[in-house]
Amino acid sequence: MAPLKVSGTIRVPGDKSISHRSLILAALSEGESRVRGILDSEDVRATAEVLRALGVAIPPLASDMRVKGVGLRGLHQPRRALDCANSGTTTRLLAGVVAAHPFSARFEGDASLSRRPMKRIAEPLTYMGAQFEFEHGDGLPMTVHGVDLRSVDWDTRTSSAQVKSAILLAGLVSAVEVRVTEKAPSRDHTERMLRAMGVDVETDGNKVCLRPARTLSPIEIDVPADPSSAAFFVALATLAAEGELTLRDVCLNPTRTGFLAAMVKMGAQLETTLSARSGGEEIGSLRIRPARLTTISITEAEVPSLIDELPLLACTAAGAGIDLEITGASELRVKESDRISAVVQNLRAVGANAEELPDGLRVHSSRRMLSGTIDPRGDHRIAMAFGILSAASGNQITVTNPECVAVSYPRFWEDLGRVAA
Ligand code: S3P
Repeated sequence: MAPLKVSGTIRVPGDKSISHRSLILAALSEGESRVRGILDSEDVRATAEVLRALGVAIPPLASDMRVKGVGLRGLHQPRRALDCANSGTTTRLLAGVVAAHPFSARFEGDASLSRRPMKRIAEPLTYMGAQFEFEHGDGLPMTVHGVDLRSVDWDTRTSSAQVKSAILLAGLVSAVEVRVTEKAPSRDHTERMLRAMGVDVETDGNKVCLRPARTLSPIEIDVPADPSSAAFFVALATLAAEGELTLRDVCLNPTRTGFLAAMVKMGAQLETTLSARSGGEEIGSLRIRPARLTTISITEAEVPSLIDELPLLACTAAGAGIDLEITGASELRVKESDRISAVVQNLRAVGANAEELPDGLRVHSSRRMLSGTIDPRGDHRIAMAFGILSAASGNQITVTNPECVAVSYPRFWEDLGRVAA
C-alpha cells in the first residue's frame, strides 16, 4: 500500500451533544426556536422521537429547522414506552426532564443501552422526590414517576455531563435551585445553552448552580461541527505521510478540546483559528499536517475532556508505533461498549501490542504492520477509530459492521474516502 496522502477541507457533521440539547431545550422553551446544522444521526433521531412521544411537534431533522416549544412543564404523558435506541444522552437528559413532570414514563433502549448504568441519575432525582423502577439491576427498562421536585446540592462520584445535565434540567423544569459538584468539570453545553436562553446558571470550577427560571426563551443556534468527529481526521492527517487537512466550523469549547491538547503534547502539527460563536459556544477551524509522534500518558484529571476520543487516541498511538498509557478512565467500561476491552482486544487482533488495565489501557510501541479484522461490537466510535488506523499508511484492517457509525456520523466512510488517497 502506498503511503497515505491527505488533502482538502472537510466540515464534519454537527455536534451530537449540542444537537440533543438544542432539541430538548427548544422543546421546553416558550416560542419558536431555530436550529441550523443539527446532526442527523440515529442518536439525535432518538431524542426527536422521544420528544414527539411526549407531545412536542418536532419536525423531521433538517439542516435548517424550527421547533415550537411547549414551555416548562408542557410535556404530556406518553402513550407508549420511550425508545431511546442506543443513546445514553437521550435517556439520561430526558429522564431528568420527565422526573419533573406530573406523570410516569417507561424508558427503553437497545441491548447496549440497556446494559448501561442508570442509577447514577436515579439517585439524585430520587433524592429530589421522583420515583424510579428498574426491572433488571441498574439498566433499562426504567420507569420514571415524576413529581414537583425539590432543590438539591449533589456531589457526583463520576464526572458525567449526562448526570449533571439530568439534575440541571430537573431543576429547570421544577423551578428549584440545584447545585452540582463534579470531580473534574465535564462538558458544559447544557449550561452554555441555558445561559443563552436567559437562565441564571453559574459555574465556579467544577461546581455549577442553576437558579429557578419562570420561562425559557427560544434559541437561534448554528450547531458547530462535532469535535469528537473532527478528531478522527486530526488523527488521520497526523498519521499521514504527506499533505494537509483543514477542518471547518469545529466546536472548540474548552471542555471538549482534550484530544487536541493530547495530540499537541504528542507532537502533532495543529493550527487552531477561532472564527465565531453561537449558542454560547466557541467555533473555529483546524489545520493539520503529518507529524512524528512521541509517547504520553493520560491521567484521571484529563479524562472528561477527551472521554469519547480515548479509543481513537489508543489507535493513533498504535498507528504511530509509540507507547501510550491511559489511567483513571474506568468510565470507558460503561459506554456504548466496554471500550477498554473493545480497543485492546481489537488492537491485539490486528497485531498491535496492548494490555488492559482496570481503569484504562497501555499500548506498547511496535513497528509491525497491522492487519486483520476487527469487531467494533456495534460501537460507532470503535468502528471509526479502527477505520482511521486502517487508512493510515500500510494498515490493512477490515471493520465488520461498518454501518454502526450511523449513531453519530452516518457519512463517515464517504468523508474518509474523500480526503485520504
Ligand atoms: C455526553 C456526555 C458524555 C459522552 C457522551 C455524550 C453528553 O457521557 O461520553 O458521548 O452529551 O452529555 P457521560 O456524561 O456519561 O460522561
